[in-house]
Amino acid sequence: MPKGFVSEYINLDRKSYNALKQKLYRKLAKCSERSIGVVCSGGGGVEAGAIMAGIRPSWGIDVNPTNRTKFNLSQMCSDYNELNHGNHVIRRSLLDIDISKLEETDIIWASLPCDRFTSMNKVHGKTESDLDTSLSNKLILIIARLNPQIVCLENVPGWANSEGFQRIVNYLTYKDYNVDYRNYNFSHYGVPQRRFRLIVRACRENIQKSRIPRLVSTGWYDSIKELIPQFQVGEVNPKVSNYLDIQMVDKTRFILVENIFNLNRCLYSDEDSICWTIRATSGVDHKGSSRNRIIAVWNPHISQYQFLNSRAIARLSGFPDWYYVPEKVGYANYIFGLSVPPVFVSKVLSSFT
Ligand SMILES: C[S@@+](CC[C@H](N)C(=O)[O-])C[C@H]1O[C@@H](n2cnc3c(N)ncnc32)[C@H](O)[C@@H]1O
Repeated sequence: MPKGFVSEYINLDRKSYNALKQKLYRKLAKCSERSIGVVCSGGGGVEAGAIMAGIRPSWGIDVNPTNRTKFNLSQMCSDYNELNHGNHVIRRSLLDIDISKLEETDIIWASLPCDRFTSMNKVHGKTESDLDTSLSNKLILIIARLNPQIVCLENVPGWANSEGFQRIVNYLTYKDYNVDYRNYNFSHYGVPQRRFRLIVRACRENIQKSRIPRLVSTGWYDSIKELIPQFQVGEVNPKVSNYLDIQMVDKTRFILVENIFNLNRCLYSDEDSICWTIRATSGVDHKGSSRNRIIAVWNPHISQYQFLNSRAIARLSGFPDWYYVPEKVGYANYIFGLSVPPVFVSKVLSSFT
């Protein structure tokens, strides 16, 4: 490995790289024998949550075959996933995976692509494609072959209306898994962000499944307040600041604001609230370049805006501080906007005994 270089997307000197790996080995050494395989692993929200629950990531599968930008976002996500959780990602499309080569794991978690099932795409008339059906069928084949004790599925709530969802749930039920599913509001589980997701939990008869305990909500401010002095001061888009003035927001208090003016408005949250849903695509432009001044905070003590760094966006997304984040804020936003919050994943996995 050349000095000062980890991968095309991660620039880290050898000393820091070794220190990071040492920390990872210590974390993995504390994990139990239980292992997890992650289908569509992205930047590793599921793996981080698994490690928090004491479960060892065995393999992940991820590549986005439709990525056409020069900056390959799914490779970037997998590089950060492996830097933080060990080399375990098979960088191939799920459809091209040779199942006979996959190691058996106690748990399989799958977050199949959700692009066609979000509420925006419903508005644009996008529906389930043949690719979605093939991905679901391939997942069923993997479950059939590896026969895990526990299967968890995560997706946007709209996925519940898809044929893929029906097929997988029917298969699990037919194979005598104890299956339940419902939509969760992650802000009730320690994530300071408005994020709703459908979670399917399925387990074998010998596994006990308990209710996932709620946590008192934390607002965005409490989760990042001590980081604010590190944030760079700067100007937001004039349309954004005008909009806040027109809305007569209380500028004697901290305000979190998305520096994007779209459909004649921008997203903002006052000091006592949670953050809006962070979307991966807000972090990158159409060429895949990072947008770094994406979320700002109005600081009433200095009467200026400051821009959130990557660590702050990680906190808003339920990631632990040990996750090594990209320096470029837009890329961090991309990883976290795609991910399942680790703090919630750890609760789901700990609900099985
Ligand atoms: C919702 S994200 C997964 C988030 C991840 N589980 C986490 O918690 O960080 C969906 C992922 O599916 C991947 N993906 C899309 N099409 C795929 C395919 N055909 N095969 C494998 N992965 C695919 C994307 O690259 C993306 O990382």
